Amino acid sequence: MKADLKEALERPASPGDLQPVIQASNLHKYYDTGTVRVHALRGISIEIRKGEFVAIMGASGSGKSTFMNIVGCLDKPSEGTYFLEGTDVSRLSRIELARLRNERLGFVFQAFNLLNRTTAMENVELPLIYAGVRAKERHRRSLEALARVGLSERADHIPSQLSGGQQQRVAIARSLVNHPSILLADEPTGNLDSRTSVEIMQVFQELNEKEKLTIILVTHEYDIAEYARRTITFRDGRIVKDQPVAKRRVASEVIASLPLLED
Ligand SMILES: Nc1ncnc2c1ncn2[C@@H]1O[C@H](COP(=O)(O)OP(=O)(O)OP(=O)(O)O)[C@@H](O)[C@H]1O
Ligand SMILES: [Mg+2]
Repeated sequence: MKADLKEALERPASPGDLQPVIQASNLHKYYDTGTVRVHALRGISIEIRKGEFVAIMGASGSGKSTFMNIVGCLDKPSEGTYFLEGTDVSRLSRIELARLRNERLGFVFQAFNLLNRTTAMENVELPLIYAGVRAKERHRRSLEALARVGLSERADHIPSQLSGGQQQRVAIARSLVNHPSILLADEPTGNLDSRTSVEIMQVFQELNEKEKLTIILVTHEYDIAEYARRTITFRDGRIVKDQPVAKRRVASEVIASLPLLED
């Protein structure tokens, strides 16, 4: 393994440090599909520091998911450089990339992507199975991750026995089980009603505030973006706005102000 990757993986995450976790410079992405060439990213430069909570906004097709796929090491830029925690991602082999992804990045998507006939706890354990962690340690870490999203009581439930919000929390627990330094969420509330969406934002705000987890979230909804600390707006593959959230919403306060639902 390359020395800088080894060093990056072994470096303890210290809550106080404000090192950039993401440094991207002049990213371009072209998709070649037979006759047409789509220029999906047109020079994206950005720095995101440890402990930030960033919302990425922009119209459909503006390049948000393309950008997230590069940040998440699921795809490579056509041009430009990307450093993840100081590591030049373009220099890594596929195996090293997979390891970096598994150990440093957590992913949450609009579709919860849970295995249907598998309990919450087993779903959360999956990344640990890939990482070769032994059963006893897997159970311990899986229960700990479920506790972090407030789902300890549902560890033995399968997805069909859980609400949409609970399923998304299982997916968040699964993304956290390896203690990633960055959580990447692409439209995590896209399938959820508004109250449940705020509950998911509460989970994100707690992880960001209490654990200083760096979070990058894609959303179409302005009110959801206001739970973050910084919003970045994409248009036609470029960043057209990058600003702090002026009046930040606090999910726990919003939930307290909502009328109680009948059971
Ligand atoms: N695999 C691909 N092959 C070809 N073109 C692609 C591919 N993925 C994305 N594109 C194109 O790149 C552009 C950016 O797409 P992207 O998925 O990043 O947009 P987005 O901002 O995430 O949109 P949405 O809000 O609808 O999810 C679009 O024009 C899209 O059609
Ligand atoms: Mg998208």
